[in-house]
Amino acid sequence: VTIRPSTAQDLAEWIRLRRALWPDCSPARQWLEIQQLAASQHPGVVIVAERDNRALCGFAEVSIRHEHVDGTSSVPVAYLEAWYVEREFRRQGIGRQLLEAVEAWAVARGLKELASDAELETPSSIATHLSCGFRETCRAVHFVKPIRTRSGSQTLPE
Ligand SMILES: CC(C)(COP(=O)(O)OP(=O)(O)OC[C@H]1O[C@@H](n2cnc3c(N)ncnc32)[C@H](O)[C@@H]1OP(=O)(O)O)[C@@H](O)C(=O)NCCC(=O)NCCS
Repeated sequence: VTIRPSTAQDLAEWIRLRRALWPDCSPARQWLEIQQLAASQHPGVVIVAERDNRALCGFAEVSIRHEHVDGTSSVPVAYLEAWYVEREFRRQGIGRQLLEAVEAWAVARGLKELASDAELETPSSIATHLSCGFRETCRAVHFVKPIRTRSGSQTLPE
């Protein structure tokens, strides 16, 4: 397995792996996210794990977050947005190699911390983060609420 930054030729395979990681994410949403990544003012990186036959078996997506991230002590920080290895290739060190490439990329850009998150209901992901040197910082529940004035219009206050 070769660990390297992605190229334009990886697009179809990268999308295939993204769908496997986020099966509930619609194709339209996937396209939007990929375009946003490419257009970002502070571009991150996509690292891929390539098999002998040019097929991919894993990838990691990293962004640079310029807002404060809970538990970190520097700004900006590198943020592991996606980290995935196909099931039959897991527990062979590929995830760790992807992470090492991510860290080298971030260090080369002067970043001092790598942050990430995991769903509470995936303890294996939490355990893997801990095995790879991450420290748990906090557990959070996210909320959103549509907001309107009483009249129903969405004017901003003076
Ligand atoms: C997380 C993931 C990318 C790890 O990939 P991987 O190739 O299996 O990881 P590695 O083989 O390099 O293992 C790295 C370390 O984590 C540990 N580990 C891996 N899977 C584990 C599990 N299920 N439970 C506990 N520890 C685990 C390994 O033992 C290893 O530590 P060690 O070197 O001290 O033994 C992979 O399991 C995956 O794709 N999971 C589903 C998606 C996901 O949860 N992604 C993270 C959030 S986006």
